[in-house]
Amino acid sequence: MRTFVRLLAASASVGLLSACAGTPVQTSAGAAANTSPPDTALSADEQQIADLLSRMSLERKVAQLIMPDISSITPTDVEKYRFGTVLNGGNSGPYNNDFAPAEDWLKLADEFWEASTGPLDGDEPVIPTIWGTDAVHGHANVIGATIFPHNIGLGATGDADLIRRIGAATALEIEITGIDWTFAPTVAVARDDRWGRTYESYSEDPARVAQMGIAMVEGLQGQPGTVGFLGDGHVIATAKHFFGDGGTAQGVDQGEVNGNIEDLKRIHVTPYPPAIEAGLGSVMASFNSINGKKMHGNKALLTDLLRDEMQFEGLVVGDWNGHGQIKGCTNTDCPQAMIAGLDVYMVPEDWKGLYENTLAQVRDGTIPLARIDEAVGRVLRLKQRAGILGGEVAPSQRTYGGRWDLLGSDAHRAIAREAVAKSMVVLKNTGVLPLKSGANIAVAGSAADSIAQQSGGWTITWQGGGELTNASFPGATSILQGIKDVAAQGGSSAFLAEDGEIAGSAKPDAAIVIFGEEPYAEFVGDRKDLAYRDAEGLELLRKFKAEGVPTVAVFLSGRPMWVNRELNVADAFVAAWLPGSEGAGVADVLFGNVPATGKLSFSWPSDCNGAPLNSAEGALFPVGFGASLDSAAPLPMLSEECAALTAGGGSDWFTAGRLADRVKALSKGTELPDLRGEAGGIAARGIDRNAQEDARAITFGPGTALDLSGPQGGNAFRITYQVQQRPAGPVVIASGGSTLDVTQEFSVAAGKGWREMVLTPACIAGLGNALTIRSDAPFAMQVYEIAQEDAAEGAECSF
Ligand code: BGC
Ligand code: BGC
Repeated sequence: MRTFVRLLAASASVGLLSACAGTPVQTSAGAAANTSPPDTALSADEQQIADLLSRMSLERKVAQLIMPDISSITPTDVEKYRFGTVLNGGNSGPYNNDFAPAEDWLKLADEFWEASTGPLDGDEPVIPTIWGTDAVHGHANVIGATIFPHNIGLGATGDADLIRRIGAATALEIEITGIDWTFAPTVAVARDDRWGRTYESYSEDPARVAQMGIAMVEGLQGQPGTVGFLGDGHVIATAKHFFGDGGTAQGVDQGEVNGNIEDLKRIHVTPYPPAIEAGLGSVMASFNSINGKKMHGNKALLTDLLRDEMQFEGLVVGDWNGHGQIKGCTNTDCPQAMIAGLDVYMVPEDWKGLYENTLAQVRDGTIPLARIDEAVGRVLRLKQRAGILGGEVAPSQRTYGGRWDLLGSDAHRAIAREAVAKSMVVLKNTGVLPLKSGANIAVAGSAADSIAQQSGGWTITWQGGGELTNASFPGATSILQGIKDVAAQGGSSAFLAEDGEIAGSAKPDAAIVIFGEEPYAEFVGDRKDLAYRDAEGLELLRKFKAEGVPTVAVFLSGRPMWVNRELNVADAFVAAWLPGSEGAGVADVLFGNVPATGKLSFSWPSDCNGAPLNSAEGALFPVGFGASLDSAAPLPMLSEECAALTAGGGSDWFTAGRLADRVKALSKGTELPDLRGEAGGIAARGIDRNAQEDARAITFGPGTALDLSGPQGGNAFRITYQVQQRPAGPVVIASGGSTLDVTQEFSVAAGKGWREMVLTPACIAGLGNALTIRSDAPFAMQVYEIAQEDAAEGAECSF
């Protein structure tokens, strides 16, 4: 942000904003200037806000409260409506390009800013727009930015000063690209590790989350009371998601939080007051409900608690169409949220309808004008504090705008590498660590040389992984490369034996096996248990052991998981979380160049069922555990029993918008990662059924075929689908050499909404673990779920 000493002198004091609530302002729509004499009791800042409000038309006021996504608006729309804020969602890059060069972000920021600052008729004030982004582990939407470990790793460092430096580095990188605001930190207290957002949480311990959260807010925004606060090199922070996101039943994302409200507050509200003390600019409302009431419409908690009791004076922003989930609301119609205390609606696509309806609802009195003025006042005040009111300077002209030399700079990468090393938690070590100097090390596992996998979700794309390759990360270092570099510097050597084959090389002194969870974000990462299923790492560890090579397991994950089998066979085991772009920090610890100081901020489970532990009895390793490398830390043999692993009876191939591990979707031999993309005449794009992008709309061109294959999980398939348009020609489903003509069935299904088809050997004799849908003519269907299951003998097919 730009430093405006005039504004900051007063606004730096945290108590300042309270003057606003009773501010007398001109309230009628389209009103001209307020002619009453200024209230001398108001500070200069508050007078500025009162003055602006008094000169704004109702249309312009409502536009300040609507936040569209950059994929769904153009600068021309911004010029016309003057939206107060815009965002880029995880899958939105500038000019519809997720892989846009960093320069494009700044260019688009300038375009939006210019569109919002053109002159207006009459006395209507010009209010620059601001842009918010999910810089949740560095400015990781942007190619070339420094990617820091996800919060779970930062929690393990226990180092608040480090977090503060990460916040400052992230803020600077955000400003380089012309963006003003980040939707971070997540201060969720994840209590059930089956939740797909566990890695966005610093800890299961509210006090630890509070400590890390305040440090991140101070790093991002600067320290209140100093000139640098929200000044150059600092951006607006958001504590999210208020509140209860980490407390949903069974760890279901966006789910239900139930219990005694005081107990819930003690866990999930605890991180907020210290962040508010630190001058926090915004709070994001949470998707979840509390005792049956969605947070976005919860006046008792959004207003009575957050505003009146906790004295939060910044902005409350909604989450992605979160208002639309309130009972009685839709994405385009939700006065309830505004009345409950939401200030800005995050309405990525449906902004036009919501804008028009909200406007009408103020006009007809459904939403009190005083509430609108209060919300607009908060938007203006935030902009004022951030120095963008009154000092019209385009993003590229600000101090750090376009300072490409500082994006992913050596200095920032050094901080990230330090964080990676400090986040490593050693769970077991029979003495193979630290690796001896002069050793020759084999490095194995498909994750070893994958910067995408080590970075996790919220990396360039929303889900991360998928089509990302190491080339998507200029300047970054894979864990493999880091091991090679650090080995070479210490007189050791390392080589890649990805699948464990060391043909031709001498027997290594040790093997590092790198494996773990594939990237995911939000509900896509929800799991039913904590069993780590993928056998690749386990098999590699066993193979090296059989050859007498000591092994080090490096486990990449967004949460603690049941890995007893791997813990048993490995000689050393390191929880590396999701370290991000600076993979060399892993080697710094393995080679003993940096002491192993990381400590668990989450309880590690001893069984695989996933029942929450939260420092209660029953953890294999409690919070605070982490071995140093000064002495050996052996482990007794652990039980390898896991009911979830042996229970047969079906498997999900496609669910919650995601293809299961080892399930592939291909069109003419080209992979459609997560059943998304365009290839061979087929286009599959994400659509929302019950949640964001949890289903796919699949368009078949003439003579196209979609091939699905995966591990065998039963003798039948159950597919939730709908056909919106009758097939224009023959459509068949083929498997195991048998073909079934489904033209008639799909024609009947057309226009009938979501339904299930069950495919059994009764109609496709060869039905196996591959399925092809082939269409002769253009055809479109939508798919929500594909599951394999065991059908009773002779069970019929149905559509
Ligand atoms: C994410 C967005 C993402 C969208 C996709 C949301 O839940 O937060 O950033 O682009 O879903 O529909
Ligand atoms: C997520 C938020 C995120 C927003 C914008 C939502 O789906 O829950 O954490 O800030 O999308 O991408």
